[in-house]
Amino acid sequence: MKLLLLVSFLSLWRRSDGTGAAPIKVLVKEGDEAILPCSFSSENIRQELFDWKKDKDKKDMKEVFMYDKGNERNSAQDEQFRGRVFHFPEHLDEGNASIVIRATKLTDSGNYTCLFPLLVPERRSNVELVVGAAPKPSATILDGTTVWARLRCSVHGAFPKPDVQWQNRAGDIVPAEEPQVSERGGRYDIILQTTVTKTDHYRCVSTQEEINHRIYTETYVPVHVLASRGGVLWVIVLLEEDIGSNQALSTGYGMALQNGVIAFLI
Ligand SMILES: *[C@@H]1O[C@H](CO)[C@@H](O)[C@H](O)[C@H]1NC(C)=O
Ligand SMILES: *[C@@H]1O[C@H](CO)[C@@H](O)[C@H](O)[C@H]1NC(C)=O
Repeated sequence: MKLLLLVSFLSLWRRSDGTGAAPIKVLVKEGDEAILPCSFSSENIRQELFDWKKDKDKKDMKEVFMYDKGNERNSAQDEQFRGRVFHFPEHLDEGNASIVIRATKLTDSGNYTCLFPLLVPERRSNVELVVGAAPKPSATILDGTTVWARLRCSVHGAFPKPDVQWQNRAGDIVPAEEPQVSERGGRYDIILQTTVTKTDHYRCVSTQEEINHRIYTETYVPVHVLASRGGVLWVIVLLEEDIGSNQALSTGYGMALQNGVIAFLI
């Protein structure tokens, strides 16, 4: 089995919301640090007050970090952020009120507001943080005969919810069953099963658009389509399982003829 990681977490991208302001989106992988940018001008802000809040307009608003004229005022800081949030003292002279959150957790995902409440007019900017978990998929061959193999792909504990696909080596999507999706603690488990009939390298691909991430596991599936011995074996299996079915019997005969083993069946 071969495993390939295609990791391209963007640390930051800007998008226009049409209002002229540029809400910023920061994407990181669980455990990494996230820099939340905030800067309105290049004027010195060492003697100002700025305050960072998470999900400001919601009931579960949290205090993240406060700077007040040379001091950090973090008595009201939420437990979640204790010891993990820092600002950049060396950049205050350039008007930079950015903060860094170290060792990010999925629960840090949310909308953050950087606020200068004492300035007139008040200044604020918003940053959306998405902390993603991108576990590698695992691929197993569940069951098989000489003409088909049943494959299972599982992805455990992913966030945001990934799109999971089976692909062959050429990158074509292999039709699969309806994915089984479950959620616990904000993380997603996905199981995707398929049945293939060709020998190939099959990939289980997990894609998380929101964090620009794709990861896959590849597995070699040797399906020997009607090799001379296999053909007979397959016919026997089919006849045993579907003995009452005319459809199965005629399929069995057809295949057997192609392989010149009709005598065996009669
Ligand atoms: C502010 O400082 C942070 C941390 O060093 C940096 O990533 C960011 O680019 C700075 N912002 C500006 C506008 O210089
Ligand atoms: C941030 O706010 C926007 C708009 O209200 C919302 O669509 C988005 O889901 C929020 N982001 C997070 C990570 O909660």
